[in-house]
Amino acid sequence: MTVKVSKATKRDLKRLIEMFSDPDLKTNIDESDWFVHCYFDYHHINVAKVKGEIQGACFWRIEGERYSGLGWIENLWVEEQYRRLNLGERLLRRSIDDMKVFFEKDNKKLRKVVLTTQVERASARKLYEKIGFRNVASLGDMYDPGGHDLVYILDMQGYSSNPASQERPANDRNG
Ligand SMILES: CC(C)(COP(=O)(O)OP(=O)(O)OC[C@H]1O[C@@H](n2cnc3c(N)ncnc32)[C@H](O)[C@@H]1OP(=O)(O)O)[C@@H](O)C(=O)NCCC(=O)NCCS
Repeated sequence: MTVKVSKATKRDLKRLIEMFSDPDLKTNIDESDWFVHCYFDYHHINVAKVKGEIQGACFWRIEGERYSGLGWIENLWVEEQYRRLNLGERLLRRSIDDMKVFFEKDNKKLRKVVLTTQVERASARKLYEKIGFRNVASLGDMYDPGGHDLVYILDMQGYSSNPASQERPANDRNG
C-alpha cells in the first residue's frame, strides 16, 4: 500500500470537512466547515492519501509569537480502517518537519511542539510518547466538559526525525 503525505489543496476541502464532522470529535458539519477553512486559509493542513483518497490529516499552526519557536498540533486523525499502518506517525512527523522549515525561513528555530489530548485517547498518547512528547500537565476538563485533558510537549533538542520506520511501506507492518 502506497501512502502519500502532502499539504492539503483546495480540492481536498470537501473530504476534510466530511472527515472532521465525526461523532468521535463531537463536531457537526458546520463546525467542521469553519474549522477546516480556518486552518486551510490561515494555518496548515497535511493529508495522508491512499490510492488518491484522504485517509488521515494533521492540522497545525504556530503558537504565540514567532520568537517563541512554538508549534501547535491542533488535530490528528486517521480513518478507523487505516489505523496502525503508520499514517498517523507520518502525518505527525511531516507536520513537525514543516514547522521546522517554517521557522527556519524566518531565521528562527522551532523549539517545542505542543498539543493537548484526552486521557482516554490511549492510541494517540502512545504515538506522541513514541515520538518523544512528554505529558507535562493535566488541564482537568478544560476543553472537554466532564473529560480529562492533558498537555504534551515535544522538546526539539531531543527529537530525531525520519527514523527507519517512516520509510517502511505500510503493508510491511503487523497489527
Ligand atoms: C491516534 C491516531 C491518529 C494514530 O494513528 P495511526 O495511523 O493508527 O498510528 P500509527 O500506525 O502511525 O502508529 C504509530 C505509533 O503509535 C502508537 N499506536 C498507535 N495506535 C496504537 C494502538 N492502537 N495501540 C498501541 N499503540 C498505538 C504505536 O507506538 C505506533 O508505533 P508502532 O506501530 O511502531 O507500535 C489514530 O488512532 C486516530 O485517528 N485516533 C482517533 C483520533 C485521535 O485520537 N486523535 C488524536 C487526537 S489528540
